[in-house]
Amino acid sequence: MKALVLAGGSGTRLRPITHTSAKQLVPVANKPVLFYGLEAIAAAGIREIGMVVGDTQAEIEAAVGDGTAFGLEVTYLRQRAPLGLAHAVLIARDYLGGDDFVMYLGDNFIVGGIDDLVERFARDRPAAQIMLTRVGDPRQFGVAELDARGRVIRLEEKPRVPKSDLALVGVYLFTPEVHEAVAELKPSWRGELEITDAIQWLIEDGRRVESSVISGYWKDTGDVTDMLEVNRLVLESVEPRLDGRVDGASELIGRVVVEPGAAVERSRIVGPAIIGAGARILDSYVGPFTSIAAGCTVSGSEIEYSIVLPRSSISGVSRIEASLIGHDVEVTPAPATPRAHRLVLGDHSKVQISS
Ligand code: G1P
Repeated sequence: MKALVLAGGSGTRLRPITHTSAKQLVPVANKPVLFYGLEAIAAAGIREIGMVVGDTQAEIEAAVGDGTAFGLEVTYLRQRAPLGLAHAVLIARDYLGGDDFVMYLGDNFIVGGIDDLVERFARDRPAAQIMLTRVGDPRQFGVAELDARGRVIRLEEKPRVPKSDLALVGVYLFTPEVHEAVAELKPSWRGELEITDAIQWLIEDGRRVESSVISGYWKDTGDVTDMLEVNRLVLESVEPRLDGRVDGASELIGRVVVEPGAAVERSRIVGPAIIGAGARILDSYVGPFTSIAAGCTVSGSEIEYSIVLPRSSISGVSRIEASLIGHDVEVTPAPATPRAHRLVLGDHSKVQISS
């Protein structure tokens, strides 16, 4: 069994927040979302990966290399334009040969890996095995319609009026039968060869299509609330690790990861939180569910439930919450702003205000 990992896309989508043109490299708990997928594939016992790349090939290759770091053998397959997921299968035809494969969209995040799915597929070998999940706005996804017995009867790509709230998750398992379907496809209204249409073709042709409903799914839709939430989810199960330097005047509480070369001085970090390689946390408070990426400096500041991307600096800012800060950002207090605290304090309160 092989894996086909999709890490293409045109690179034109402008995400003012992360500035990264490869959406598969958006970090979750300081690690590109794509890496979680690669780890899940390796954990399921798959070694050979065809990585479909587009305009952002250089960025993806710089991050993944030949796959050795993941215990994988990566072959790069160039897609000349983002012509659809089924088009990716088409260009990977020779690479895939007669093998079964899992197709994994590099911007999708699935809690709990894919071991069980791969095992079930290897046992049953339906023409296609898909995963569904309930989402708030199904119009952004492929949507499944099920019959009373829970069998998939119809799939529709980005429907204007969705028939259900069950979205197609971007992890699909196929036998080589899918190539017959892909060969028959015509471009959709958005000009792409849709994998959704290929699966619909299999259903109509009487082939076996199995589905399961999962929870714990996330996809980068550019939504900050969503991203903070998935970051929180991952940090919650992170193993505490201290590879950097923490001075005697600092305190680490709970699940805290301090990466190599990071320095924590006169600061308090309440986990779950991760401090990236070479980052410096000085005279600051870092609160729960915060990811500070490599090379950042946080000094004289307080931050929690936030994500800070590489090489940014935050200094002298008394409280940052629920924020996503891009890379190479500088956050400083506005010098001329008068500062005041508005307080409603009960009798006998004891309050410490540092400014
Ligand atoms: C693609 C699929 C869609 C699926 C989604 C999951 O959408 O076409 O059916 O629900 O991935 O990530 P796209 O990312 O191309 O918008």
